[in-house]
Amino acid sequence: MDHIRIRKNSLWIENILAFKLARIYKTPFYCYSLSQLKNNFNSFNNIFKATKPIICFSVKSNSNLTLLRELKKLGSGADVVSIGELLKAIKAGINPKKIVFSGVGKTEEEIRTAINKKILLINVESESEANLINKISKKLSRKTSIGIRLNPNVTGKTHKKISTGGKNEKFGLLYKDYINLCQKINKMRNLKLEGLSVHIGSQITSIKPFKEVLSVLNKILNKTKINFKFIDLGGGMGIPYSSKEKKINLKQYSILVQKFSKNKNVKIIFEPGRFIVGNTAVLISKIIYIKKGNNKKFVILNAGMNNLMRPALYDSHHQIIPLKRTNKLFKGNLEFVGPVCENSDKFANQKNFWQIKEGDYIALANVGAYGMSLSSNYNTRPTVAEVMVSGSKHKMIKKRQSLENLVNN
Ligand SMILES: Cc1ncc(COP(=O)(O)O)c(C=O)c1O
Repeated sequence: MDHIRIRKNSLWIENILAFKLARIYKTPFYCYSLSQLKNNFNSFNNIFKATKPIICFSVKSNSNLTLLRELKKLGSGADVVSIGELLKAIKAGINPKKIVFSGVGKTEEEIRTAINKKILLINVESESEANLINKISKKLSRKTSIGIRLNPNVTGKTHKKISTGGKNEKFGLLYKDYINLCQKINKMRNLKLEGLSVHIGSQITSIKPFKEVLSVLNKILNKTKINFKFIDLGGGMGIPYSSKEKKINLKQYSILVQKFSKNKNVKIIFEPGRFIVGNTAVLISKIIYIKKGNNKKFVILNAGMNNLMRPALYDSHHQIIPLKRTNKLFKGNLEFVGPVCENSDKFANQKNFWQIKEGDYIALANVGAYGMSLSSNYNTRPTVAEVMVSGSKHKMIKKRQSLENLVNN
């Protein structure tokens, strides 16, 4: 069931009218549904229950501390890509033995912290990184568990800026280099090679590329006979952003994964981000002005690309929902834009939209993943508040940045 939905021409977040929240909290603000979050995590867990994977929520998609604490309660681990994410995951109470550290550019400080915190795996992306981890581990008298990220040369059919599995991308190691590094690591005394990881991109809505990855992995494991304890299949499972887009068939994928993990006798790790949080939030914003342009009207919101970067960065579309719909339609063209002084600060073009006026509130839908976590202070604007709804209750889970803090830093 969707916990953020339209009922009787109004948007509801669980049992609360979004309009009521817009009158309480200063707009723009992110608003989450806790039930939707629980629903998503539990359904992912259920779909893959035969495999019993370690689910490491991808913190880059959303790093709100309350949200991480809720995910921890549900049994989640974390996939982190920086020292900040690592420390936040630990602060949220996530067991370090359920934390994997990904990324091509881990610094010495980040590696030392990850080793000291005794996390499950550091997923290595280059020979230089492996050498550095070995050196630091030696100094700390430790034997560090690592995985190596493979570049499987499989591209998910997704936006080019979020496709990471092709052979020309910076991520992972190509097959030959991979095998070479495995051999070298076996001679490094302070490293324990335990995992193979892959992540081919984000917002992938067909299981075909995931199937291709499994077939690449099968070939490698059969050929090299390296006994990995963990196979980390990454994240990337997409979600529908409009009613026309289809849902990914995760059930079918789970059958393939189960067969694979049984055959190879490995523990599976997943790093889902978007699938868990994508549809848990809306960004509530106010229409400041409506301005006449050439062949269209500009609807100028008080939320901009600094609050929600995805449309500018990835040409992504987020549905726009008036918090209260009228029954009348506006026949012309509307362009929803933000206040930021950039031409790319645009959210969507709409035709035959509901009639709206200055001062009305709208919501940008499905912004739980890569929404707040990609936001910035661009144009020296404060980061906005985050609010969480659970049933008929609501609370602020992150304060809007104060002007004082903004101006003095
Ligand atoms: C290494 C890694 N794992 C997991 C993810 C999460 O991806 P998604 O949010 O598409 O599930 C990402 C994001 O692209 C990533 O870079």
